[in-house]
Parts: sequence; structure tokens; C-alpha cells
Amino acid sequence: MRIDVLTLFPQMFPGLFSTGIFQRAVEQKLVEVNLYNFRDCTPDKHHTVDDYAYGGGAGMVLKPEPIFAAVESIKVKEGKEDKEGIDRIPIILLTPQGRLFSQPIAQELSREKRLILICGRYEGVDERVREHLVTDEISIGDYVLSGGELAAMVVIEAVVRLIPGVLGSEASLLDDSHVTGLLEYPQYTRPPEFRGWSVPEVLLSGNHAQIAGWRREQAVQRTLQRRPELLDKADLAVAERRLVDRLKAGLDK
Ligand code: ADE
Repeated sequence: MRIDVLTLFPQMFPGLFSTGIFQRAVEQKLVEVNLYNFRDCTPDKHHTVDDYAYGGGAGMVLKPEPIFAAVESIKVKEGKEDKEGIDRIPIILLTPQGRLFSQPIAQELSREKRLILICGRYEGVDERVREHLVTDEISIGDYVLSGGELAAMVVIEAVVRLIPGVLGSEASLLDDSHVTGLLEYPQYTRPPEFRGWSVPEVLLSGNHAQIAGWRREQAVQRTLQRRPELLDKADLAVAERRLVDRLKAGLDK
């Protein structure tokens, strides 16, 4: 996958790209990330990227020209190699007004060969960027950051770990919180007793069926306690639905 990021603050990103699974994915050429500062795409000598809002009000608005110019220069370069694919590249604006990012959206994006991410800043982006350039808008939560950079990193991190081959053990993906529609079950490692707190017996039993059953039950219980609304959409077996009902009855007492 190739990800192009348009930002006024490229210096915020290298920490992510030079660490852990991400670095390995880059080394293995499973992913390539390019940072473009769209300030470099301004024609004037002051490299102006923002201006006052028409109609007045506090704060500056990002001008459309540098953002269009940056995306178009990426497309021109790319178009020479891939004439057909070029118009299908998702161009995603990170903004608190976008659709709320989630594991299914990460899965959807992990199937793309290319992504272009645009990080907004200041009070916003000229509406013509939204209307005539971007194909998607994503928010990482109902709060406001000073720019889209951290949001872009969140999206990149969540997407890249889903690319086949990026994680050492693909199986570990399957139990992740939100992948199953449930929160993940509790995890323990050695020692079996720490400061008098023991690891649940069943995990030491070596009985894989029992362990799987316990984990599933714990996942259901945890989801019910912390994020009950997730259970409405989760894919539960009949016995698990009954467990939810029993637990709910218990919780309601
Ligand atoms: N830019 C500012 N706040 C944001 C958010 N919550 N999600 C995505 N981009 C943003």
C-alpha cells in the first residue's frame, strides 16, 4: 500500500514510521508513506496557505489552491505509471465533521492499494476542497484537535496493521477488541501469582476448549459492562445471547 499524506507539519510523523511493526512493514515494502508539505505548493513568496474567512469571523481558513496543487502533482506523477487506477484513489480529509472512524472502516481502507490523506488545520478548509477534491471525510472522535495530523496517524496505524503480512501472527488480529464486535477478553502472562493475585485457574488448565469458552464469556461480560451498545450489533451464538440476558438480569438487581 502507498499512503501519501498532505500536511503542514510533516515533522510530526517520523516517530510513528520509525517504530515497531510500522518500521518493519516499511522495510518489507508492504507499505510506503510519503509526506508532502502543501506549503511547498504555494506560488507566492510568502508561501501563504491560509486566509481570512469570507463573511468574517475568527480564525483562518486553508486556501484551496495549495491543496489542489499538491494532490494534482501526486496524481500527475502517479498517472504516468497507473493511468486507470489514478481516479479511484480515495482522497480522505481528516476533519471532526467526517464519518466516525471504526474498525470496519480500517478494514475497508486496508484493502486499498493507495490512499491520500489530507490533514486540515486552523478553523477549517475551504469548502471547495470538500466538494470537488476529497472523496471521503473521516473523524477519529467527537472532540476537536488543532489539526488532522494525529488523526491521520491513528488511521494509518489502524489500517497498516491489517495489511496481510504486517503483523507477525495474523491470528492475533482475530481476537482484537472490536474485530469480533466485542471487547477483548482479559490477558495474563507469567508469573502465575503476583503480589497474591492469581491468574484464573482455567488459563493454566491446558484445556483449549474450556479456555476458549471462558474467553468468549469474559469478552461478552466485559462488553456488557463497558460498552453495552456494542452487543446489539455483535454476532453472538444463542447461548451467548442467553448469557447476556442472564448477566443483564444480574446487573439490574
Ligand atoms: N481534526 C481536528 N479534529 C479532528 C478529529 N476529531 N478527527 C479528525 N480530524 C480532526
